[in-house]
Order: sequence, then C-alpha cells, then structure tokens
Amino acid sequence: MNSCESKSFDVVIIGAGIAGLYTALMLSKNLRVAVLSKKDLYDCDSYLAQGGIAASIQNDDRQLHVKDTINAGCYVNDLEAVNVLVNESEKAINDLVRLGVGFDKNSQGDFYRSFEGNHSIPRILHVNGDSTGKAIMEVLVNQAKNTSNIEIIPNIFALDIVDNKNKCCGIMTFYKNKFVYLKSKCSVIASGGIGQLFSKTTNVDVLTGDGIAMAIRAKVTLEDMEYIQFHPTALYSKNNEKKMFLISEAVRGEGAILKNKCGNRFMKEYDTRMELAPRDIVARAISDQMKKTDSNYVYLDATMYEKSFLKNRFNKIYNECEDNGIEIYKDYIPVTPAEHYFMGGIKVDLFGRASMENLYAVGECACTGVHGANRLASNSLMEALVFGKRAAEDILNKVKVIDEDNFEDSVFIPQCKENHMDFSKLKENLKILMENNLGIVRRIDNIKSALEVVDEVLFKIQYINFKSIEQVEVYNMYEVARSIIMATLESKTSIGSNYIEEYSKDNVVLR
Ligand code: SIN
Repeated sequence: MNSCESKSFDVVIIGAGIAGLYTALMLSKNLRVAVLSKKDLYDCDSYLAQGGIAASIQNDDRQLHVKDTINAGCYVNDLEAVNVLVNESEKAINDLVRLGVGFDKNSQGDFYRSFEGNHSIPRILHVNGDSTGKAIMEVLVNQAKNTSNIEIIPNIFALDIVDNKNKCCGIMTFYKNKFVYLKSKCSVIASGGIGQLFSKTTNVDVLTGDGIAMAIRAKVTLEDMEYIQFHPTALYSKNNEKKMFLISEAVRGEGAILKNKCGNRFMKEYDTRMELAPRDIVARAISDQMKKTDSNYVYLDATMYEKSFLKNRFNKIYNECEDNGIEIYKDYIPVTPAEHYFMGGIKVDLFGRASMENLYAVGECACTGVHGANRLASNSLMEALVFGKRAAEDILNKVKVIDEDNFEDSVFIPQCKENHMDFSKLKENLKILMENNLGIVRRIDNIKSALEVVDEVLFKIQYINFKSIEQVEVYNMYEVARSIIMATLESKTSIGSNYIEEYSKDNVVLR
C-alpha cells in the first residue's frame, strides 16, 4: 500500500462518449463532476455513429419497437429494460433537441425517419444524413464545456477501481506520468466497447475493454460476455487497418442489396427479410458466402440510386468510398463483417447500478440486458441516453448520503517494472486469436485452445509488472478475452451472436 497525489470529486465518469457526457450533463450543477477521456475528446465510437438513433415518438406503436428489439435479441433480452428503453425514448429525443441537436427533417417538416435491419417501421432519426454521432457529440461536448461544475480531463488513463469493503471510493488513474487517485462519492464506467480485441473492427483504437477489465479485477459482476455483434458491412480494404470504415445499415435500409463475388443476390437463401434481417443473420450469411466463393468480401450494391441522392443522404460514406476509388452510384462497394458492438459487460440494473456500491456503468461497457443476444440496429445511442439519465437521477439521491470520510486513503499502486515481453506482438496475436476463434461462427474445440493460449499469456504478464499504459491495455485485453471465452464455454447454447457450430442444430429460436 502506498499514497499518491489525489483529488476529490462528487462523481467521476470514465469515458467521454455520448453515455459519459450525457450522464454528466444530467447531474446537478451543484456536484463536482470529472469526465475522463482516455485520449482526445472526440476519440470515441459515439463520434463515428452513422445510422442514427432509434426512437418511438408521436403516434408510433411502442409495443412494435419492443417486439422488434426482442426479436432481434433472440428473446433473451431483459423485457423490463426494453420497455424502459422504448417508453423513455421520446423524452430522450426531446432532451437532445432542447440541448441543440438538429435532427434531419422531411419536406413536411417532420423528423426524417429511416429503416434499418429488423425494424418493422421507419424509426431511426439522424443528423446530417450519416453523421449523427458527430453532430450529437459536438452538442454534448459544447454543453459540457460550458457547464462550470464539469471538468473534462483528456489524455488520462483509468487504471483501477479503488474500493473499501465492496464500496467504490474512486478511481486510480495514470495522468501526465504520475499515479493520481480521483476520490469520488460515485463513479461511473462509460468506457465503451472491446473492438480492439479483434483484427477486424469498426471500433476506434482506444477501445481495449479497460473499464470491463477494471471491473474484473475488482470482482464486479459481469453479464452476457459471450454476445458480441459483428456488423455485416464494413468497407473491405486490403490493408490491415486498426479500425475499419463502416458502411451504415441505413444504406440497406434505403434499399441497397447484397451480392456475392459472382454478382448474385444471396440473402433470400438465408432469411425472408433479406438484407434487413437481424444483423447476426446477415453477418453469418455474408461470412458463408465469402467461404463459398473463396473471397474476402461480398458487394453492397447501391447503384439503383441517383448520385445526388447518395451524396446527400450518405455524404460521409460517399466521400470515404470516393477516396478509396469507389463511386457508389455506379460501383459496387466491397464489404465484409467486422466486430462492431458488445452486448455484454458490467451487469447493471435499470438505474445503471453495478454490483459494487457507489459504482455505476452506462453505455456499451454496461449490460442492462436490453439488447439480448443481438442488438437491434440504432438502439445503442438510445440506450446510452435513457440509462445514462436514469443513472444520473439515482446518483443525485445517492451522493447526498455518502460520507467523504468513508474514502479509502491508502491505495494500491501498481509497480512499474521493466518487462522484456513484446507487448505489440502479444496484442496482435490476441486479435488474430479472437478473430479466428470467437468470431461469427464458433467451435468449442477452438475456443478451448484459445483459452489455453490466453491463460499462458496472463500467467506470464502479471498485472503489477507493467512499464507503460500500452502494456496495461494489452493486459486488459487478455483479461476481457478470458472472460468472453469462459462465458462462451459456459453458455452451452447457440443463440444470436453467440453462434456455436456444435449447438447450432438445436437452435430453435424462431425469429
Ligand atoms: C449503422 O449505421 O449501421 C450502425 C448503427 C448501429 O450500430 O446501430
């Protein structure tokens, strides 16, 4: 045990994406709130979100949204959480509008709402076509910067939860080459996804599962760790990129179709909903076609649309494809599935409360159970808002009764020791291991072999022996990988995104 520099807040929030910032903004102006960003402020997946945000508004049938969500999720969703998400979605949209988000409107002045996979009616709101995340983030960052009680701290690495008898007392961080203990009455993990555990991902490169690894070390309960969503259509590139560019499901929502390497439309062989079947089904179908045609990609054909429509509705996608030599109004887009979203994570209740007292989790790192085994497209931004606000409301009551004297003053500080292992190689190896064995189609014997490899590495790189943040990230990745592997082995069924070949014949979920 050691002491180090420390600073006190009422609430510390790890993560400055939509979930973290929105939670901060929903807290009272009388609280001292810190929002930590691992790198620069806009280095997060929220900023990249294209398709939009699913909401049931005006006269929409709320139960239809519930039905679509649980059908996509293979009926293992937490029904109470789904009802909360849907019933509170209109209020969240109104809040965003009040904060200054200008959703796209049609010629009658109503919100322009789009289709995406498995939505029975168009209910996806968006901003500037395919730049929804960027537009929302800009509004939230601007609001947070102009709120005097919120301190946004960029380039700070959250290392560990500090707790005293299963009560969270704050977060140990590494900031400007020093350990800094941020004491807080309540702490919120909003650290996002785990995409960097896979070779092919749409996630930004900071997403190494750090928040979830912290929870594992603090023995906080996790849930649904086997459910990992692969987006069917990332832009295929020969270069091995850290983050792949997404071709939004909204492109299929507007009518684009999938064709294999030979130019044949294939989705009819897999699902009557064709290109707008739930994501896990479309991703598996593409993966199957890639195998059958011995190709690294299939095609997305949007050539039925006028150049002007595509340029206006999907400006970001249009430009990125153009930069890659693809004119989407006349060329097919080569696409391939890639890890996109984590349905599992830190188990929380309907107010974002984790199993440790005074600890909350919101957004992708949290598991409310709302998404079941496969998330319905565009429900994630809404989840971040609805459950972020609920967590903030709960924290407001909680902080009033927490005594600062309960804070742990003597904290564990990891040792920085020289370490001769090649961490870049370990990281690369893990990404390939996860891609090959915990991807779209899984096999029990492969998963067991992956576990042996992960265990061997974890044994060698003990947590206290790190020399740099990059090394902690790698350690975190292996810890999260182990948890995913164990949950997959223990699941003993094949449902939705956890498609295990050996059990797939018993997969009787009719969707
Ligand atoms: C997309 O635009 O296809 C992604 C939206 C989402 O992940 O729900």
